Amino acid sequence: MTRIPLHEAVAILKRGGLVAFPTETVYGLGADASNPAAVARLYKVKGRPKGHPVIVHLADAGQLVRWAREIPESATQLAARFWPGPLTLLLKRAPAVGDYLTGGEDTIGLRVPNHSIALELLRQFGAGIAAPSANKFGRISPTTAEHVRNDLGDEVDLILDGGPCEIGIESTIVDLSRGRPVLLRPGRIGAEEIEATLRVETGPRDRNAPRAPGTLESHYAPRHPLRLIPSVQWDEVLRTAPLARGVLSLRPRPASDASAMWVEAPSDPVRYARGLYANLRTLDESGCDEILVEEPPAGAEWAAVRDRLARACSA
Ligand code: TXA
Ligand code: MG
Repeated sequence: MTRIPLHEAVAILKRGGLVAFPTETVYGLGADASNPAAVARLYKVKGRPKGHPVIVHLADAGQLVRWAREIPESATQLAARFWPGPLTLLLKRAPAVGDYLTGGEDTIGLRVPNHSIALELLRQFGAGIAAPSANKFGRISPTTAEHVRNDLGDEVDLILDGGPCEIGIESTIVDLSRGRPVLLRPGRIGAEEIEATLRVETGPRDRNAPRAPGTLESHYAPRHPLRLIPSVQWDEVLRTAPLARGVLSLRPRPASDASAMWVEAPSDPVRYARGLYANLRTLDESGCDEILVEEPPAGAEWAAVRDRLARACSA
């Protein structure tokens, strides 16, 4: 593997530049979280509306006190159990945390990623790195350095290449700012694991929950229309839909099928998630008019994948 230019990355962050880096979930577009101008440029490059908060990435849970004014026992427990890892905690923000990070919310999203390059970058930088996924706003998150290059090109000062991301979908987000924990975005870590660690049930998402914009609207969308097809309708849809279609199915392509493109996804949810965004990009770039996705099974282990697919098709 080629040398990772971490020193250069740190220097770029220190002077207010943007560095894309791998995490175990998806690639992040990083900026110095303490530098409002750097974060403003990050929003501009991403094409992200101002009111959308970013996650601040930390080298370890010891840095929480710099960002959160209250660290409930639940945060300590979840951090001990899952950090470094694919979990973002929403906590009440410290007084010094600016609106430019939180979109005006009273909370701040914090996460310690589990990736050697991300962690080494965070350690050498020595402070928080604000990093949304390194894609244009509303598009599919990148899981390789090449995805980042295709999406952001020269608009980012440096891309650290750590190969394909292990998990492939974004972190689980848990709101711990209002008493009972609320799961705002499902991910590899499921509600059951959160509940088993805290020994409480997660609460329902209600009207007063933080807005978490990216978790509410259509998001993660390919350019071409995507239709999510229930398994019972699958054969019928394949018989009738125009052939200029790309297909993401859990089954192998039937001999009789004439779809322009067919991708067979793994039937295991962990592997399905790992390849999901790369598969959607492949289908999106295949020249097809439409993407047909066979709905994955019900069941908690598929919750995060189903969540992302539902958003990809509601565009
Ligand atoms: O896995 C991940 O979390 C990746 C990697 C790079 O760490 N990051 C990521 O960031 O997915 P982003 O910005 O694409 O998505 C973060 C989500 C957004 O939907 C945002 O609204 C929500 O987290 N969020 C962050 N801070 C928040 C806050 N203080 N209050 C409410 N929602 C927040
Ligand atoms: Mg994102």
